[in-house]
Amino acid sequence: MILLGIESSCDDTSAAVSRNAEVLSSITASQKEHDQFGGIVPELASRAHDQKIMHTVRMALSEASVSLDQVDAIVVTQGPGLIGSLLVGLTFAKGLALSRGLPLVGVNHIDAHMYAAFIGQEEIPTPFLSLIVSGGHTRLVLVQKPLHHRLLGTTRDDAAGEAFDKSGKLMGLGYPAGPLIDQLAQKGATSRFEFPQALRNEGYEFSFSGLKTSVRYTLEKMTHEEIEASIPDLSSAVSEAITGILIHKLRRAISETGVQKVVISGGVSANSMLRNKAESLAEELHLDVFLPPLKYCTDNAGMICRLGLLHIQQDPTLLTQSPELSMNMTAYSRYPE
Ligand code: KG4
Ligand code: ZN
Repeated sequence: MILLGIESSCDDTSAAVSRNAEVLSSITASQKEHDQFGGIVPELASRAHDQKIMHTVRMALSEASVSLDQVDAIVVTQGPGLIGSLLVGLTFAKGLALSRGLPLVGVNHIDAHMYAAFIGQEEIPTPFLSLIVSGGHTRLVLVQKPLHHRLLGTTRDDAAGEAFDKSGKLMGLGYPAGPLIDQLAQKGATSRFEFPQALRNEGYEFSFSGLKTSVRYTLEKMTHEEIEASIPDLSSAVSEAITGILIHKLRRAISETGVQKVVISGGVSANSMLRNKAESLAEELHLDVFLPPLKYCTDNAGMICRLGLLHIQQDPTLLTQSPELSMNMTAYSRYPE
């Protein structure tokens, strides 16, 4: 089965081609338009998707050496995400599907992050615990069998990636600050500053908004020169606070559910401190930990193909329905909350 995947939910325009569980190409055009604003400007994001989408899809087909005639179905992110951004990908996919007479399958972006860890792998081993940590979402989910999800906890305010980005902004780093904080933290000491890990004793919910307030208060007491000289130590302490609470909640879920397989995915799963902590936890508790390769941690269309395949395998009638998809903020998300 050859699938063409399209992802445009936020600020990455991405297209991918897959053959069964294998991703043959995944091309992502990131948008530099937002850097000067310190965050994503939705209007600019949709315009940039519109400019980049045609070329990105062409490149994905060409790199995979696959022609449109060989494609069996198109898979597209249906939600959640920025409305204008989603509309570009969805409308492009719908037009292409209609013009080529191809089936169109819509998938949920957050679920796609979850299954990114199984790109290249036909079998999905269940049950597993899934920690999805990105710029927009923080979720701990119990996956009893493929596509059967039980939400254990989510964030009450900021997402984990947002906590990295907002702390970085206060420290004068660019946007998104997550990858830079990761690099700087490797040269810093975790112990010089201490930032809060909220809700440590409460269930599976997360809260990160207090972290940025604490970073702000710390910076207000320092001179400009002191801040400059302390960026690695501050980065290290911010990383420790975020990754520490994520691993703490994961440990609780493992102990309370008895599930020994763990998937960590989404943009923040690229973080080296989180990956190291996950490896140590795996060793200590004899877990199977699945982490996507770095290129499939942040937004990409390879994961859209992987989830699309799973939906088609579970419900082959998806291939015979007309491509009457509309934007759906919770499409295919199965969270009995
Ligand atoms: O999954 P993603 O590309 O987009 C969303 O669906 O939100 O995640 C982007 C987020 C940003 O907040 C970015 O700062 C963070 O992932 N991120 C990282 C790292 N790489 C990306 N955060 C910490 N360390 C990293 N290495
Ligand atoms: Zn994402």
